[in-house]
Amino acid sequence: MFSSRTHWQFGLNRLSQKLARMKKDGIPVLDLTESNPTRCGIDYQTEDWLAPLADEKNLIYAPDPKGNEAARKAVSEYYRSKRADVRPDSVFLTAGTSEAYSFLFRLLANPGDNILIPRPSYPLFDFLADLHDLRLKPYPLRYDGSWFIDLPELKKSVDPGTKAVLIVSPNNPTGSFLKREELSELNKIAAERKIALISDEVFSDYFFAEDASRAETAAVNQRALSFALSGISKILGFPQMKLGWIAVAGPDEEVCRASERLEIIADTFLSVNTPVQTALPAWLAKRALLQGQINGRISENLTFIRQKITRGSPAELLAVEGGWYATLRLPSVRSGEAWALEFLEQDRIYTHPGYFFDFPGEAYLVLSLLPPSAVFREAVSLIAERIGKD
Ligand SMILES: Cc1ncc(COP(=O)(O)O)c(C=O)c1O
Repeated sequence: MFSSRTHWQFGLNRLSQKLARMKKDGIPVLDLTESNPTRCGIDYQTEDWLAPLADEKNLIYAPDPKGNEAARKAVSEYYRSKRADVRPDSVFLTAGTSEAYSFLFRLLANPGDNILIPRPSYPLFDFLADLHDLRLKPYPLRYDGSWFIDLPELKKSVDPGTKAVLIVSPNNPTGSFLKREELSELNKIAAERKIALISDEVFSDYFFAEDASRAETAAVNQRALSFALSGISKILGFPQMKLGWIAVAGPDEEVCRASERLEIIADTFLSVNTPVQTALPAWLAKRALLQGQINGRISENLTFIRQKITRGSPAELLAVEGGWYATLRLPSVRSGEAWALEFLEQDRIYTHPGYFFDFPGEAYLVLSLLPPSAVFREAVSLIAERIGKD
């Protein structure tokens, strides 16, 4: 009855089963996987964020496939504040970044084609690829004290069915940014092999130090057809408002041909609701009120874990440049999953094992830096104690 693309594994893994049982029994858990900002004690009452939704303009339906012009101008302003010149005309609004991926996969690939994705990275890509009948070919990110793309391996993965290289900068969960030199190599590959670059920059406003070696946004990349993705789920901590965008860049002719197709894809769905588009300029103008809180939280939690997991510790805190996550490498006496189960059973701490993000080898744990600091401190202290005992 159902398409083979939906033949997923249903049911809970061991960790989720255990968590579900604990929740059912009313056992409180210190959740270090929580990265929904609306559940992490961010104060949304500092401003009347809902007021811009009540605009009378919202009673009129005036669809534009790219999204309403004032909203696209606000996106252009957002990039200007990052010293990037992105014209409103090259912006397409979408109902979240996930939908932006969907549009791009439809634009670029036929069934059976492939997209190169970083490994480790964000698990959503598997489902998106299944839904669009695509294959994912992972290219490795390596760690030698900092993360970098294994470019020779990436090059080897490109084949005639490769339609795009996906970059996540900073990556979820490694927190590593794409570097200028890496972008320059990717541009060469993309131009030579006629493949596009898709750059997911949803976390790019969150970084712990400046670094001149970081690549600038792909929204201004002229050397290859590029699609920069972002949205307010991270920029404002508003995942429930469902607003993202694609900024198209590259050689003029390719941008033109991509844009006319994208316009039809977007026009087919017209999925972004009018009120959030109307509200976007006011929201983006005040983003510092929420970003400031989120940055404060992730910086405070990162400082704490850096103090707890130091050089002498049996665990290692991997270098993190930005984003909302930290990665711990634990002694490989057991797998990441076994560690996560032990922390859940013994200490009531819920963490994500590295295999969720396709980390090669063992034993990795990914922690969200967003939970309230009291929760984070208690959980990380217990983790440090247990690792010390082992
Ligand atoms: C790297 C990355 N891209 C995209 C998304 C999804 O963003 P949106 O809520 O705009 O669909 C997420 C969500 O966590 C993410 O981590």
